Amino acid sequence: MKIFIKTYGCQMNERDSEAIGALFEKSGHTLCDDENSADVLLFNTCSVRDAAERKAKGKIGYMRKLKNRNPDLIIGVMGCMAQRLGDQLLAELPHLDFVLGTGQLHKALETVENIARNRQRVSSTLPSLEEIDMLGEHRNNSWSAQIAITRGCNRFCSYCIVPYVRGREVSRTRDSIIAEAENLIANGVREILLLGQNVAAYGLNGDIRPPAEGHSPFAELLEALNELPGLERIRYTSPYVSYFNDRLISALASCSKVCHNIHLPLQSGSDRILQAMNRQYTAQSYREKVASLRQAIPDLTFSTDVIVGFPGEEESDFEATRELMNEVGFEQAYIFKYSPRPGAKSALLADTVSEEEKLRRNNILLDDLQLRIGKKLKNMTGSTVEVLCEGVSARNSSRWTGRTGTNFVVHFEPDTQVKTGDLRNVRITGCGQVSLFGELI
Ligand code: 5AD
Ligand code: SF4
Repeated sequence: MKIFIKTYGCQMNERDSEAIGALFEKSGHTLCDDENSADVLLFNTCSVRDAAERKAKGKIGYMRKLKNRNPDLIIGVMGCMAQRLGDQLLAELPHLDFVLGTGQLHKALETVENIARNRQRVSSTLPSLEEIDMLGEHRNNSWSAQIAITRGCNRFCSYCIVPYVRGREVSRTRDSIIAEAENLIANGVREILLLGQNVAAYGLNGDIRPPAEGHSPFAELLEALNELPGLERIRYTSPYVSYFNDRLISALASCSKVCHNIHLPLQSGSDRILQAMNRQYTAQSYREKVASLRQAIPDLTFSTDVIVGFPGEEESDFEATRELMNEVGFEQAYIFKYSPRPGAKSALLADTVSEEEKLRRNNILLDDLQLRIGKKLKNMTGSTVEVLCEGVSARNSSRWTGRTGTNFVVHFEPDTQVKTGDLRNVRITGCGQVSLFGELI
C-alpha cells in the first residue's frame, strides 16, 4: 500500500511519524508525498494549541472528498488530538477509519492492515506500557537523527495539555538509547537530537523535584553518547531551566560533541505570571541559571518559548517578559498567543487578554527579536565558524547550507569535496535577515 503521513506539532511528533513510516516500509509498504495517490492517509496530530487542532481538523475534514472518490481509502488520526478526542472524532468524521492515541502509535501498522482486511472502524486511546521502547525504528536516510529518550511530562504547567495527552513521564534505559545511537551512527548519522518533553529530567523516575546538586542522569547519558566514535554532534530539546544543576552544567562544558545551544523555555518574565503558570522558577533564578551556563560555556546561544496573553497578564507583566528577553538576548524565540486548552488548569481562568492585544504583544517581541538577530549576525562577519554541511540550499541551488553548533544557519558555495554530514570551517562574509553567508576554508 502507499502511505501518506502528515505531521502536526512538535519534534516528538515528527520523530513518531518517522518511526511509524519506517514500520510500514519494513513490512513492504511505501511512503508517498501525494495524498491523492495514497491508499492510506495518516494524520499525526497536536493538541498543544487550539490553532494546531483546528488546522488538523480542517485538513482531515477536507479528506472526505478523497474518500468519496475512493471508498477503499483508509484514513487514520493519531497522536495528541486523537488521544484527547478519541471516539468523538469517529463520531464527528464519518469518513475516518481509525483513531489511535499517543500510547497506541506502535499499533498503526497492525491497525491499517486489519482495516484493509475487515473494514471495521477502530478507536483506541489506552495508555501503553510497551510503547516506550517500541517506536525505535528509523528510516536511516540522513546524517542527522532524533532519539526520543523520555516520553510524557509530570510538570503540569497550568496552561499545558501535554501531561493529559502524553501521560506521565517515562525514561528509556541508557542501554537501549546507546544501542539506538550506535545503530544510527553505523548507518551514517553524524548528529543526534535527543528528545523529551522535559529532556533534562531523564532518568529521574518521574520525581517532580529537580535533582540535587551533583546528580544528573541526563549528564551521564550525554557523557556516554559523547564517547561514541563517528558521532560529531549531540543536541537536545527541551530542558526545563531548574534541571541545570552543577553536574549537568559541567557535563555540557566538558562534552566536546554537545552543541553550544540550548532551547530554554521561559514562558514569562513576570514572577506573578510564572506562579500562575505553575512554573517552578522566578525571573531572577532563570537569569542566574543563564549566567552560570554562560560562565561555563561562553559562546552558548539560547532560544526560548514565550506565551503572551496568559490570563491576567497586565502590561507590566508583559514589559517584564520583554525586558528579560532583551537582557538574555535570545538568538531565537517562539512566541505563542495563549489559548485555553480544555482539561488544563488555566482553562478555568477567564481569558482576559483580547486577541488584538495578544497579537500586539506577540509582534512587539518578534520585532525585538528581529532587531537583535540582525545585530548578532552582522557582528559575526569576518569570523570563522565550524558548520555541519546539510546539503544544497533550499532557496538557491548553487549554494549549500550548514549549521553551526550554536545553531546559526550558514549558506556557502560548495567545493568538489563537500559531502552532507561533513564538518567544515567557513569564513563569514555577510548575512541576510536570519542567516549567514560565507566561504569554505
Ligand atoms: N497556549 C499557548 N501556548 C502554549 N504552549 C503550550 N501550551 C500553550 C497554550 N495553552 C506553548 C509553550 C510551550 C510550547 C510548546 O507551546 O510555550 O513551550
Ligand atoms: Fe503537540 Fe505537545 Fe503533543 Fe507535541 S506533545 S504534539 S507539542 S500536544
